[in-house]
Amino acid sequence: MLNGKRILLIIAGGIAAYKSLELIRRLRERGANVRAILTSAGSHFVTPLSVSSLTGEKVYQDLFSLTDEAEMGHIQLSRDADVLVVAPATADLMAKMAQGRADDLASTALLATDKPVLIAPAMNLRMWLHPSTQRNLALLNADGISTVGPNDGDMACGEFGPGRMAEPLEILVAIENVLGRSVLLKGRRALVTAGPTLESIDPVRFISNRSSGKQGYAIASALAALGAETTLVSGPTNLRPPTGVKLINIESAQQMLAACERALPVDITVCTAAVADWRIDQAANQKIKKGEGGVPNLKLIENPDILRAIATHQTQRPALVIGFAAETENVVAYAQAKLRKKHCDWIIANDVSPSTGVMGGDENTVHLISMSGTETWPKLSKTEVSSRLAQKISGHFKGTAA
Ligand code: C5P
Repeated sequence: MLNGKRILLIIAGGIAAYKSLELIRRLRERGANVRAILTSAGSHFVTPLSVSSLTGEKVYQDLFSLTDEAEMGHIQLSRDADVLVVAPATADLMAKMAQGRADDLASTALLATDKPVLIAPAMNLRMWLHPSTQRNLALLNADGISTVGPNDGDMACGEFGPGRMAEPLEILVAIENVLGRSVLLKGRRALVTAGPTLESIDPVRFISNRSSGKQGYAIASALAALGAETTLVSGPTNLRPPTGVKLINIESAQQMLAACERALPVDITVCTAAVADWRIDQAANQKIKKGEGGVPNLKLIENPDILRAIATHQTQRPALVIGFAAETENVVAYAQAKLRKKHCDWIIANDVSPSTGVMGGDENTVHLISMSGTETWPKLSKTEVSSRLAQKISGHFKGTAA
């Protein structure tokens, strides 16, 4: 996918810039040509010499340099690229991009391009969470700019939270997704369920579970990146809506089922939602008062099985129905049984024992189980699992007309 591709990498000023050097190496290993623009703030973190040694090209820094203009003008720089990647993308550069400002070489090249743009934000967590940055991010996403990360983690400033730049391999996958966009699954429709469901006890109380929704959001994003018209039906999460995906927010399992049925017909369904197995039979309309009649006796009834309902749909069964199986023991055996019980085509099975850190975490070791056998994938980030799954799905449809 990356072989022979021309990447224009813009390195802005942040401590994460050192990871961009690694990114250049990984891109070149895969046969990509990398040209870099280093902002003046960026050059405080990595030197032009390191960047040019790794790209094997001169580094572009100055909007008004006559030599640069003679060799390669800013318009030509973006015209010559297949994709523009901003890593790290600072709060300041994101703000400039959102406003369409062009006061240095990086922002000018970004404004002058009609090529796909991917940003890998990296900044202090409060800067990231600030309404201004979130507003700029929403504007950039609405303009069709793709985002990878940031991840949660320890930050150079000593704090912990969202703001760490995505790892080079994650950025690599995101670049592949951007480049592969609108090709492999063009003309296909996909439906993804994600997150927990929330089942009311009364107007203020509910039962739910710890699902973060990360895996489902990443899958919806990866399918959209390959060109599938993707609907994501999601329970309550803290995640940002993925770019290019139609997001439908619901709370309960019954609402999720109704939203999924409305989204049919589709070619592909991936059920990642942690649907609550039970709901309260007849949630109270008023808040249940403490002390009146002792502890309430909550009667639970079974929720609909959304995956099974879609996989056994009489008239609109999707061509490919994929479920997830989160287990804490006998992972593959239980998943094989689930494949048959739910009538789906593939099951992605994973071990969610607390020691694995999968629930709410960023990584996953999965097995892909189908009637024809089991494939075990290495430990991957949820983004990489999603990208691999989306590629696998596109392989399944290869050669059949959309
Ligand atoms: O039965 P279990 O919850 O282990 O099955 C997991 C798979 O079934 C997941 O793909 C999940 O999204 C789906 N599921 C569903 N509706 C339910 C329960 C599970 O779609 N009520």
